[in-house]
Amino acid sequence: MAEPFLIGENMTGGYGPVDILHSCTIAVEPGEIAVIVGPNGAGKSTAMKAVFGMLTLRQGTVRLAGEDITGLTPQARVRKGMGFVPQTSNIFTSMTVEENLEMGAFIREDGQVAETMEQVYGLFPILREKRHQPAGQLSGGQRQQVAVGRALMTRPKVLMLDEPTAGVSPIVMDELFDRIIEIARTGISILMVEQNARQALEIAHKGYVLVQGANRYTDTGKALLADPDVRKSFLGG
Ligand SMILES: Nc1ncnc2c1ncn2[C@@H]1O[C@H](COP(=O)(O)OP(=O)(O)O)[C@@H](O)[C@H]1O
Ligand SMILES: [Mg+2]
Repeated sequence: MAEPFLIGENMTGGYGPVDILHSCTIAVEPGEIAVIVGPNGAGKSTAMKAVFGMLTLRQGTVRLAGEDITGLTPQARVRKGMGFVPQTSNIFTSMTVEENLEMGAFIREDGQVAETMEQVYGLFPILREKRHQPAGQLSGGQRQQVAVGRALMTRPKVLMLDEPTAGVSPIVMDELFDRIIEIARTGISILMVEQNARQALEIAHKGYVLVQGANRYTDTGKALLADPDVRKSFLGG
């Protein structure tokens, strides 16, 4: 098989002497949505941190477009085209929406930041309306839009999202998923962790079920949704 666009392969490691990830492999192709699901504490966020370079791996590699980036810092990975929206503290609440987006563009040297900001406002029109408000005053769903928008300001090739729909209503979740589909259609790879497993797998080209830091099931989103064992154990029947 051809080399995936982004792959964390056989990742083993943790925060100290005890491994959290056990030979975990996650990959995504351009324009594809890959979703990681699994129980609380399974290591989903840890796997994302590992792919983004926030965790030193004891074994395994991370490769982007065929290049081994295992030794790179998160900042260096951003310059290579990776954007990451962490699970918590993903915006500056005291700064305005627009300042948050400007902060996101810190690595840009091409002078086309305004254009990207227009694209973000096109994707999330409410952010244009609220651009002069402190981000902390926005609703949960709108804050997540700020966080996603901020990551898009670097013009990433891969967008990594850790539970982007946490704490939002089902309607807001559906809207956010629609925007994520739209982003993927522009050719950006999406690697996403989701608690709303069923809904996320519905939009996933590829799904990973992680349990205790290891791959339990890997298949298309559709196949995982249809798998009786996956349904019973991870999707509530
Ligand atoms: N910063 C940390 N330091 C030490 N252990 C951590 C840290 N973050 C997470 N863990 C542990 O790693 C395991 C996996 O956590 P996490 O990746 O956050 O799971 P998930 O995102 O699937 O809920 C858990 O046992 C958790 O307690
Ligand atoms: Mg998590």
